[in-house]
Amino acid sequence: MTQTHLVIGATGAQGGAVAARLARDGHTVRGFSRKHGDLADPVAVRKAFEGVSRASVTLPLVFDAGLVARYVDNIIAAARHCERLVLNTGNRLPSARTSVAAFETRRDAADALLGSEIPTVVLRPPVYLENLRPADGVLAYPIPPGHRVAWLSQADLGALTAAALHRADLAGTSIDIGGRDVVTGPELASVFGADYVPLPPDEFEAWMAPVLGGAAAAAVADTYRWLSSPENAGFYDGDPTAVEALLGVELTPIRRWAAG
Ligand SMILES: NC(=O)c1ccc[n+]([C@@H]2O[C@H](COP(=O)([O-])OP(=O)(O)OC[C@H]3O[C@@H](n4cnc5c(N)ncnc54)[C@H](OP(=O)(O)O)[C@@H]3O)[C@@H](O)[C@H]2O)c1
Repeated sequence: MTQTHLVIGATGAQGGAVAARLARDGHTVRGFSRKHGDLADPVAVRKAFEGVSRASVTLPLVFDAGLVARYVDNIIAAARHCERLVLNTGNRLPSARTSVAAFETRRDAADALLGSEIPTVVLRPPVYLENLRPADGVLAYPIPPGHRVAWLSQADLGALTAAALHRADLAGTSIDIGGRDVVTGPELASVFGADYVPLPPDEFEAWMAPVLGGAAAAAVADTYRWLSSPENAGFYDGDPTAVEALLGVELTPIRRWAAG
């Protein structure tokens, strides 16, 4: 029987990869973005979930706690009949609470969904390979060079989300996902024939503000400020073999991803 899969944030980079993977797997996909309605509007969200059995949720670049809580309340009210919902937190979550809104709004979203009656799987990705912009022999990124990072491709996020949407036994769990290779900055840069340059988070914020808007750029830069502490060096580490075994997905090596 064909079941409709709802992808919230389907026009975004991550939601787009999820929608593409689900469509490739033969599922009927319904996207939700602002052209369909606003996540803050309960009527629009309820309509989006009509006839939907499975849903993938990526929250937009909004870090106001009250607004994100409204989005999540609307999703929970609309998704009660869903057989499975996968929340992509867009980031890993620190073990203890922080003052970083990009972490804590997603922690609250995950807790609310896991505490609801909706069979939910929470996927916590590290950073995406698509964030990288190697240029002129330099790969600049706001992560200290010695941190080991399980860089994930958006296509692999799509595959992992599709797997989580169809596995009954994972409901109620949170999974730290990541890519095939766990590398330091210089190891990553060598794939692109570049030198690694750790970008100060302030510079990253100034660079991203025209692209994301000031508030979102500041919120994202705060995650990298938190990460720059040596005690947080393992935040984006990963165990690719365990992720592959748990979700039955073959992850893409960075070299293969870079070769296109
Ligand atoms: N870990 C990483 O490396 C990484 C990288 C990037 C982002 N992220 C995180 O991932 C999340 C999404 O970021 P993104 O860059 O993927 O965002 P994005 O590409 O801008 O996608 C956001 C999606 O949400 C939709 N949307 C925005 N506001 C909405 C609203 N009020 N109601 C309904 N739909 C709305 C957008 O649709 P329209 O704009 O078409 O309306 C789009 O489909 C954020 O939490 C971000 O921090 C993480």
